Amino acid sequence: MQVLHTIERVREQVRAWNKAGESVAFVPTMGNLHAGHLALVARARECADRVVVSIFVNPLQFGKGEDLEAYPRTPAEDQQKLVAAATDLLFMPEEQEIYPHGRDGVTFVEVPGISDLLCGASRPGHFRGVATVVCKLLNIVQPDVACFGQKDFQQLAVLRRMVNELNMPLEVVGGPTVREADGLAMSSRNRYLTAAERERAPAIYQILQTLEQWLRQGQRDFSALEQEGRAMLQRAGLQPDYLVVRRTDDLLPPMGGESSLVLLAAAYLGRARLIDNVLIEL
Ligand code: PAF
Repeated sequence: MQVLHTIERVREQVRAWNKAGESVAFVPTMGNLHAGHLALVARARECADRVVVSIFVNPLQFGKGEDLEAYPRTPAEDQQKLVAAATDLLFMPEEQEIYPHGRDGVTFVEVPGISDLLCGASRPGHFRGVATVVCKLLNIVQPDVACFGQKDFQQLAVLRRMVNELNMPLEVVGGPTVREADGLAMSSRNRYLTAAERERAPAIYQILQTLEQWLRQGQRDFSALEQEGRAMLQRAGLQPDYLVVRRTDDLLPPMGGESSLVLLAAAYLGRARLIDNVLIEL
């Protein structure tokens, strides 16, 4: 696996692959890789001849008082995992390479509407930071396919919209959420949970599964279902941020008659903010 730090070297390599007729799949990450990331790398392998992964903890997507400084950084372990996963190229830029003029006054990518709901309402500017860095990374790597986890369902929806509206010539692939044995969705931020909190954390997925059953059994009073879901989170010792039923494409409330829906939840547990979702094909 090549480990490159500059835009120029990455472009050179991708150009050489393209010249040889090889396609490229790309998995952007912030490092501290777990089985969820590695499943995305495996998915990327199926999609193209070459796999590029980036590790960059993007300061623009962290709000004031969020965990930018504390965000787990494990580059040596990450590199070992990526070699084992047969990654061809790891791009690990310094902040200066991505934001040469500093963090203030950078040219932003704003995906309006969908970025302001749910996690966007609780974390203002978060999706602007995500869209900006992903747009830059896609322009740097110029892949044929880009892979993102469905665990961050809203992020995936924002990025699909960005790629579509900016006519970026690539396919966006969503990889299924990878879970611990007790159902907790894997996330680098799970390490913020104390032992007692870790025991309570799977409740978010269990509650979403219960609500999924109700929807499958024909419950269509969405606001009653959402209210009960939030009460269940509270009873399980989690502080709900939101729990909603939404349409899968624009994440707006369903009008009735949709053939697919998504249940989305975010809840605070100690230092961690857990998010999870369940897709429902009706
Ligand atoms: O999901 C993540 O790890 C990040 O939001 C991403 C897509 C790598 C952008 O920094």
